[in-house]
Amino acid sequence: MTSRPVVDLDHHSRDYLDHRLERWSELRRCPVAYSEAHGGFWVVSGHEAVARVSRDEEDFSSVYRRAGPDGVDLLGIAGVPRPRGIPAAGIAEVDGRLHQALRRTINPFMLPGAVAELEPLMAGLTTWFIDARIESGSMDMVGDLTNPVPAVITMKMVGLPLENWAHYGEVFHAMVAYRPGDPEWNGAMAKVPDMMAGLLAEAEDRRRRPRDDLLTRLVELELDDGTRLDYEQIGAVLWNLVGGGLDTTTSLTSLALHHLATHPDQRARLAAEPDLMPLATEEFLRYYSVNETLSRTVARDVELGGQRLKAGEVVLLSWLSANHDESRFDSPGDIVLDRSPNPHLAFGVGPHRCIGMHVARTMFRVVVSEVLRRLPDYQVDPDATRFYSGNPTLTGVVSMPATFTPGPRLGPKERPF
Ligand code: HEM
Repeated sequence: MTSRPVVDLDHHSRDYLDHRLERWSELRRCPVAYSEAHGGFWVVSGHEAVARVSRDEEDFSSVYRRAGPDGVDLLGIAGVPRPRGIPAAGIAEVDGRLHQALRRTINPFMLPGAVAELEPLMAGLTTWFIDARIESGSMDMVGDLTNPVPAVITMKMVGLPLENWAHYGEVFHAMVAYRPGDPEWNGAMAKVPDMMAGLLAEAEDRRRRPRDDLLTRLVELELDDGTRLDYEQIGAVLWNLVGGGLDTTTSLTSLALHHLATHPDQRARLAAEPDLMPLATEEFLRYYSVNETLSRTVARDVELGGQRLKAGEVVLLSWLSANHDESRFDSPGDIVLDRSPNPHLAFGVGPHRCIGMHVARTMFRVVVSEVLRRLPDYQVDPDATRFYSGNPTLTGVVSMPATFTPGPRLGPKERPF
């Protein structure tokens, strides 16, 4: 048997963080290779191999088994350090029947029909947050719009008190936007125990006083063996839902608004051709792949891309790389608003495919369309725009000050939530 091809990839290094697309382009020359960083892991970068691993839950488990020293694990399920206090084993980290039961419970709140019912609230929120700034002629596109809208919607979807949106929005944003050890990151991490306690208090409340919401369905879910989820499991699932709902759509929307501000021809075209929005949404999803990487554990010895992977080894999957694979996409480094077909894997594929994808697509369309309509000449300040500095699995924008011709408020003076 030939020895495995070893590549030099440390996804926490400054070099990687600053040159991701170039690094993935080099790594794709060997779509299944091995990195010896962080205890060793397989690096899967080609579109075909990423899709194969994602679809095959028998050979590639979502359960993460490797413990790190001092509770800090530099690979983690998401390829990010997982300090103590961050719950494991939510819906993203379980397999088989438990995973299916969780998906069946949550799905009704995420399907297109349910999302269509949420759309008026998305539109009302977008109007309200733009109204709050439109007379002034300036706003931070992230802090004033692309972070708040998904934060409130996530609260609504899960059944959490809407007035807590700012707390969740700020903590999750700081956790992903800054590098572990940065003061902002430490500050956010310090708030996690309280946040978990708050989530569990809500779950306890639903046990006593059931309501017609997702959280009640979760606490009432009866598993195959007749038991219910314990509070640790509920906390982990809520963490996945709130974390998944919050900063991903924020990042996608912020990055797209940044791109449109810096590419006036494409902005003019999208504003003039609203029917282009569905294809443009898929293209922004592909290009940015804001959830860049996740991991799997090899469940049993298996062959992949000509390599022998052994049970227990860890696989880093790169959706970002798959979505820039030259063998699947022409000019993958260009944003082509009407790209079609566009077989991107930005939401993953297979049993763990993003459960919130319809919510994300709809929120993106509502917010971007409204910005193009109400702030048609917005300009971002390139010197003041700050991008995420050190997250190996999520990209996004920390803050993006923008100016525009002031306009009239359109909505009610009262908050729509
Ligand atoms: C631009 C927006 C989003 C992107 C790019 C994105 C991307 C992803 C990806 C790549 C996965 C992993 C799939 C896998 O492991 O095979 C995932 C899973 C997940 N996402 Fe999203 N997501 C987005 C928005 C959302 C939203 C709005 C929610 C919440 C409601 C959400 C909740 C989740 C959950 C709970 C999972 C775990 C599903 C499972 O393991 O079964 N995501 N997402």
